[in-house]
Amino acid sequence: MNIAVVGTGYVGLVTGVALSDIGHNVTCIDIDIEKVKKMKRGESPIYEPGLEDIMKKNIEKGRLDFTKCYEDGLKNAQVAYIAVGTPEKEDGTADLRFIEAVAESIGQHAEHDIVVVTKSTVPVGTNDYIREIIQQNLFENMKVDVVSNPEFLREGSAVHDAFHGDRIVIGADTQSAADTIEQVNLPFGIPIYKTDIRSAEMIKYASNAFLATKISFVNEISNLCDALGANIEDVTAGMGMDARIGNKFLNAGIGYGGSCFPKDTSALVQLADQAGEPFELLRSVIKTNDKQKRLLVEKAKERFGSLQGKTVALLGLAFKPNTDDMREAPSITIAQELVLAGANVVGYDPIATENAKNVLPGAVTYATTAKEACQNADFAMILTEWDEIQAIQLDEYKSWLNEPILFDGRNCHNPTKAKQNGIEYHSIGRPT
Ligand code: UGA
Repeated sequence: MNIAVVGTGYVGLVTGVALSDIGHNVTCIDIDIEKVKKMKRGESPIYEPGLEDIMKKNIEKGRLDFTKCYEDGLKNAQVAYIAVGTPEKEDGTADLRFIEAVAESIGQHAEHDIVVVTKSTVPVGTNDYIREIIQQNLFENMKVDVVSNPEFLREGSAVHDAFHGDRIVIGADTQSAADTIEQVNLPFGIPIYKTDIRSAEMIKYASNAFLATKISFVNEISNLCDALGANIEDVTAGMGMDARIGNKFLNAGIGYGGSCFPKDTSALVQLADQAGEPFELLRSVIKTNDKQKRLLVEKAKERFGSLQGKTVALLGLAFKPNTDDMREAPSITIAQELVLAGANVVGYDPIATENAKNVLPGAVTYATTAKEACQNADFAMILTEWDEIQAIQLDEYKSWLNEPILFDGRNCHNPTKAKQNGIEYHSIGRPT
C-alpha cells in the first residue's frame, strides 16, 4: 500500500520505518527541512537502537522516502498516519495545535479517498474533531475515513516493540476503514483488536494510566518497606508470582518520567474532570510520582544534614536507559533540588548529555565518563540504570569517590555486597 506518515518524532519515524520494512511504500512528511535532509541520507534524528539500519535498508530498496511537502507525500497515499506530538498545556490538558494543523493540511492536499489514522495519543473524541477539520478543508467531495490506532511502543525498544508488540488496536466506525488498516498491519503478525474509535482512544490513556499507577503503587510500598524493614525486591517478586498481578513493571525507583506517562496521566485527569467524573486515584498517582522524584535528595539531606558545598556525581540523566530523551526525567528535579541545596552537581550520561544541557540547571557541569564524574565527588547518585552504569564495580566507586557513599535510585547493586565492599549504600525500599 502507499502510505504517508506525518510527523517524524519517535512514534512517526518508527512507524514509517516499520511499515516500509513489511513492504509498504512509505513517505514520511515533516515540516523541518533540515531533519528531512538528514533522514533522506539514512540518518535518524533520534537515538533509537536498531532504527538507522532498517531505515537505510528501506531507503535503498526505494520503499521509504522523506519530504517536507504534503502534496508529494499525499499524492498516491491510500492511508495517511498522523503522528505529531500532543504536549501538555499549562492546565494539564493535551495541546492539539499540531494535530489541528496536520488535519487542515491533509484536508487541503488530499486528492482522492483516504483513510486517516491517528497514532498520536489524543483525548477521547479527538478523532471526530480531526474528521471535521479535514472535511472542512476538502476542495472536492471525497471519502475520508478516520481510524484511531494508538501506539504502545516504548522508547529505547521502539524498533523491537514495532515488530513484536502485544497488540495492535484499531478503532474505526466503518468496516471498510477497519479492514484497510487491518490489511496494512497483517504482515506484523501481531494480534489485532478492533473496536470503535472512542474505545480505542481510551485504551491508550487507560493503559498508560494503569502502568503509571503500577509504578506509583510499588514506589509507595517501597517507602513503606524502608520504614518497616521489609525488602521491596522480595515483596514484588512474591507479588509478581500471582498471575493476576504479573511480574513486569514492578521496579521501585525514583519515579516515572518521559514524554508519555506524565502528560497522559495529567490529560486523563483533566478529561475526567471535564466529563464530571473526577479521577482521584490517578491524581494520587501523579502526586506520589512528584514526591518520589525528590526521595533521593531527601535521603541525602537526612544523611549529611546540609548539602552545601558537597560535590555530587549524577550517573545517568535520561529518563530511562537506551534513550537520549530528557523529557520529564527525574534527573531534572533531582539536579534542581541539589543545586538549590548548595551542592555542586556533575552529570554523566552515555548518550543524553547534549539534551540534558538544555534542561538541567545552568550550574550543572558535565563529565565524559562515569569515572570523571565521580572523581572528586563526595558521593554519587545512580539515576538511570544504563548497562554501562550498572556494570561499574563497587570497588571502582570506592577508588573514585572522595567518600565511598552511593545513593542508588534504581537498585542496581546488592546491599549486602555493597556493605562487604566498604560502601555506604542507600537504595530504594531495601534494608541497608
Ligand atoms: C510508555 C509505555 O510503556 C508505552 O507502552 C507507550 O507507548 C509510551 O509510554 C507512549 O505512550 O508513547 P516509555 O515512556 O517509552 O513508554 O517508557 P517506559 O519504559 O514505559 O518507562 C516509563 C517510565 O517508568 C520510566 O521513567 C521508567 O524508569 C519508569 N519505570 C518503568 C519504573 O520506574 N519502574 C518500572 O518498573 C518500569
